[in-house]
Amino acid sequence: MIFETHAHYDDEKFDGDREELLSKMQPGGIGRIINVGSSIETTKTTIDIAKNHDFVYAAVGVHPSDIDGLNEETFAWLREQTSWEKTVAIGEIGLDYYWDKEEEVQKQQRYWFKRQMELARETNLPVIIHSRDAAADTMNLMKEIHAEEIPGVIHCYSYSPEMAEQFIKMGYYIGVGGVVTFKNGKKLKETVKKIPIERILLETDCPYMAPEPNRGTRNQSLNIPFVVKQIAEIKGISTQEVEDITWNNAMKLFSKVK
Ligand code: NI
Repeated sequence: MIFETHAHYDDEKFDGDREELLSKMQPGGIGRIINVGSSIETTKTTIDIAKNHDFVYAAVGVHPSDIDGLNEETFAWLREQTSWEKTVAIGEIGLDYYWDKEEEVQKQQRYWFKRQMELARETNLPVIIHSRDAAADTMNLMKEIHAEEIPGVIHCYSYSPEMAEQFIKMGYYIGVGGVVTFKNGKKLKETVKKIPIERILLETDCPYMAPEPNRGTRNQSLNIPFVVKQIAEIKGISTQEVEDITWNNAMKLFSKVK
């Protein structure tokens, strides 16, 4: 069975066939799914999906590009959601300097990243971190707040193998998805080669990031076997081993999942 650690099935791209698709997951070998909130609105829709499906769990949090929706009131609401039995992580949170170049906006991103990291510490939940074009600031902020005390994953990992080792030293997992199958995914392939399989989590980030041979189409969790196959080849182990070990990794990190 495959543990899908990062999906967005509440996305409008699934409006036409969401239930039909989700009904195919368990028969197709996808045993658990974490649906990840990225704004206050999508945290609500994430919770709805987790309520309606036994095998789907919720991560609650606000993505750096959506922090406009955060204030003390909505942050308090977010905190309330953490006590629900199927809320298994805070995410996705982090820094994204690819879309936001203004210093003032980046400062706001750092502020809400920190606040949500502290929320995770306080509520004993792991974090799902999104970090794009912000490697140094992500690492510095994590050091500053002692992120080694807060378990988590760097999702859709896009930095160097050396940086991955630094995150792993802090106790973090590395989220690997479709990019590892891309022709231009050389850096991620090197990362996968270098880090222990015990530190890798499987994910899609669907509807985005579909792996080869389906690159460019709407992604969904039934594509993960293409990622598994690529990781197995790089590591020189069987696809079954990749599934089993990454399953155990996810169950360990997201300890509220049953
Ligand atoms: Ni995502």
